[in-house]
Amino acid sequence: MSTLPAREGYRLWAPSYEAETVVSFLERRAVEALGVPTARRRLLDVGCGTGRRLHDADAATVVGVDVTPEMLAIAPAQLALAAGDVRALPLADASFDVVWCRLVVGHLRELDAAYAELARVCVPGGTVVVTDLAAEAAAAGHRRTFRDASGTVQELEHHVHAAHAHVEAASHAGLALAAHRRAVVDASVEPLYAAAGRLDRFAEQRGLPLVLALAFRRHAR
Ligand SMILES: C[S@@+](CC[C@H](N)C(=O)[O-])C[C@H]1O[C@@H](n2cnc3c(N)ncnc32)[C@H](O)[C@@H]1O
Repeated sequence: MSTLPAREGYRLWAPSYEAETVVSFLERRAVEALGVPTARRRLLDVGCGTGRRLHDADAATVVGVDVTPEMLAIAPAQLALAAGDVRALPLADASFDVVWCRLVVGHLRELDAAYAELARVCVPGGTVVVTDLAAEAAAAGHRRTFRDASGTVQELEHHVHAAHAHVEAASHAGLALAAHRRAVVDASVEPLYAAAGRLDRFAEQRGLPLVLALAFRRHAR
């Protein structure tokens, strides 16, 4: 199967994107387990997609940025959204207390430019949260796929970044690792495998780390 560039893939996935998947379910749990508070903070979600993680954010202000207009078009009108690339954010330096970048950087071949931008827009002492498909999942054959409107399975271009590659790129950008979690396939996601008609894969993948979640602190000046 040939892979689609992210921008094209998410254009096609946008109409059905909000249906929770095994990856998105485990990702949410992993981010919650990091325990990074957003209440009364200025929160930025880079690669926010449809803004689904911002719907119930308890932050003082929330801003979402994404490169795919069709994803942003689905977000609720009251969200503050901007089109932009994680490697060149249209935002001022040090303007957010918490910066999320969830399930985005796996679509990039190189991490450094993304981490440099995530760090730049975060205040010194603030937190950057990044999630990615775990390298173990990719090694076990897991791919970023979805069904388009015609029911065809499509695969998105995706690059494997080991945890140490994230930590190194973050460190170049002035970010220090503060916490990390790996979300593993367990009984909580069995119903999602069942709904997709893939209980065979559940048996194979049980115990496999699927999502890596990292929290970094930006060095105080
Ligand atoms: C898997 S979705 C995640 C959406 C959202 N973070 C969530 O967890 O629901 C990945 C998103 O990253 C966006 N994206 C991909 N490459 C990007 C880039 N270079 N800059 C900004 N956004 C990008 C896509 O358009 C898509 O909306």
